[in-house]
Amino acid sequence: MCGIVGYIGPKQAAPILLDGLEKLEYRGYDSAGIAVCDGDDVTISKAVGKLANLKAKTDNGNSITGTKGIGHTRWATHGKPTENNAHPHCSERFVLVHNGIIENEEALRRKYLKNAEFYSDTDTEVIAHLLQKFTDDGESTAVAIQHMISEVEGSYALAIIDKNDPDVLYAVKNKSPLLIGSGDGFNMIGSDAMAMIAHTNNFYELNDKEYVVITKDSVDIYTCYGKKIERNTYVAELDVSDTEKGTYPHYMLKEIEEQPTVIRKILKEYSDDDGELTIDPDILKDIRSCDKIYIIACGTSYHAGIVGKQFLEKISGIPTEVCIASEFVYNMPLLSKKPLFIFISQSGETADSRAVLVKVKEMGYKTLTLTNVKGSTLSREADHTLLLYAGPEIAVASTKAYTAQVAVLAILAANIKNSININLNYELSKVSNVIESICDDKDKYSMLAEDYLKDSRNCFYIGRGIDYYVCLEAALKLKEISYIQTEGFAAGELKHGTIALIEQNTPVIAIISQENTNLNTRSNIKEVKSRGAHVMTISTKSLSAQKDQIIINDVHEILTPLVTVVPAQYLAYYAALQKGCDIDKPRNLAKSVTVE
Ligand code: F6R
Repeated sequence: MCGIVGYIGPKQAAPILLDGLEKLEYRGYDSAGIAVCDGDDVTISKAVGKLANLKAKTDNGNSITGTKGIGHTRWATHGKPTENNAHPHCSERFVLVHNGIIENEEALRRKYLKNAEFYSDTDTEVIAHLLQKFTDDGESTAVAIQHMISEVEGSYALAIIDKNDPDVLYAVKNKSPLLIGSGDGFNMIGSDAMAMIAHTNNFYELNDKEYVVITKDSVDIYTCYGKKIERNTYVAELDVSDTEKGTYPHYMLKEIEEQPTVIRKILKEYSDDDGELTIDPDILKDIRSCDKIYIIACGTSYHAGIVGKQFLEKISGIPTEVCIASEFVYNMPLLSKKPLFIFISQSGETADSRAVLVKVKEMGYKTLTLTNVKGSTLSREADHTLLLYAGPEIAVASTKAYTAQVAVLAILAANIKNSININLNYELSKVSNVIESICDDKDKYSMLAEDYLKDSRNCFYIGRGIDYYVCLEAALKLKEISYIQTEGFAAGELKHGTIALIEQNTPVIAIISQENTNLNTRSNIKEVKSRGAHVMTISTKSLSAQKDQIIINDVHEILTPLVTVVPAQYLAYYAALQKGCDIDKPRNLAKSVTVE
């Protein structure tokens, strides 16, 4: 949540900062701001709403001179999205941008800042005043930052300007993501690599409670005690074009249609020289010696996790429990004797999941992260990582990361123990072809969205077993981008209460891909139809009925979540489009949720 950038070098900083913020807008978009230094002068410009407003206000940054600056795109946590609360925040000497939450801000105000005058409702302003106080008391900026790290509790990625030092930018990190981009004669700060990739693909990773002193020619990393750390850069395997929309009107549509390629890429990346799908033997050893797997995730990744449970239990025979990270961390179930934890996270930065990772690591348990972002916090801090190879996912609503998570979980399960003798290489190749054929039919989903969803207040997805798990994901997609109140429901459970909500023309979308539940779900369809529901059915060919609206070519029965979800992604996309919603940046949301 919130994105930060910084630049110091020979070029005009403001346009570079605004370009970087554009790449970070997925992290929050209720207001934005930049601060640029031209010698001793610091110009701060802020605007409420999307970044486009700040761009318009500053002529795309061209109206602000100076070659050093910092920028921020906000997802409000403390205080409304107003210009006053937008970052950068400042005290007399310091100007800074912040991603994260300061948990002990009240205590800090009482202890150190009784005389400070606050102008905003943010926790961030406390840091600006704190640095001011410590330097006023005689500390150097570096020592004041060390002091700040020792006092502040919570999460923070900060980019800091000290007005007394025109040649330096400072950056600090604890629990929130932050990278330093290193170039020839310039350096950058960014919440992720995408914000800087147009300028460099060399990055320094930072660990918690480290701070960095950055000039245009140097990057010096220090521990919170001021000890210099030697660290090499790494090269990010990212392409600028990965982060562009190309000819697509929205990132979400592009990402939906990238899914066949993503599955093929996963097959390539996980194949050995003989074309066998393999997983690192150390990971398999740890998993085979555990007595139960706990999957920890949030949102869409949680939905991939519950599909993964089916794979781990039905293909490899390992008992698996799937837990919502924010619930698990404060209400841990009774654990088995030798648990292993799998974290699923597109971004690898989700604070709720990380809180669990920190806790179970303290308890000494083995951990594995499935993530799309190499070098992300959850990847670095777990014992093992499996990458998703989905490429940057920029639309806030997750699509290709979900299918990548499900595919990698299937490969993992079959490698642990392939008790159903599934030929995953063959079956997943087939899946990618079937997704391609689903994508060829998109005009149909547009018409169905118009007919069933566009003018609806609410909607139900129903299914049984693995289809029910897809219904949960399908419902999340529809509600988060079209704002139609949608529930994913176990088809058989509807009659135990919720069927009372079915009225004339309530849309009910049934997913049918499992032979053993086909007839039962079809009975449930009759029940809702006879109460007025407007029913649409998504079924696989071998189980289809003549009037089913969406019929998908068959894939292996256990892999159907990879294909049945795709029409649901399209239906959500088109419903949102027809309602005029902001598809890639739905209201109130941010992609990388780095606060608990
Ligand atoms: C929904 C969506 C979210 C994320 C969730 C976890 O479309 O994208 O529900 O799945 O915030 O994020 P990650 O996977 O980055 O941990």
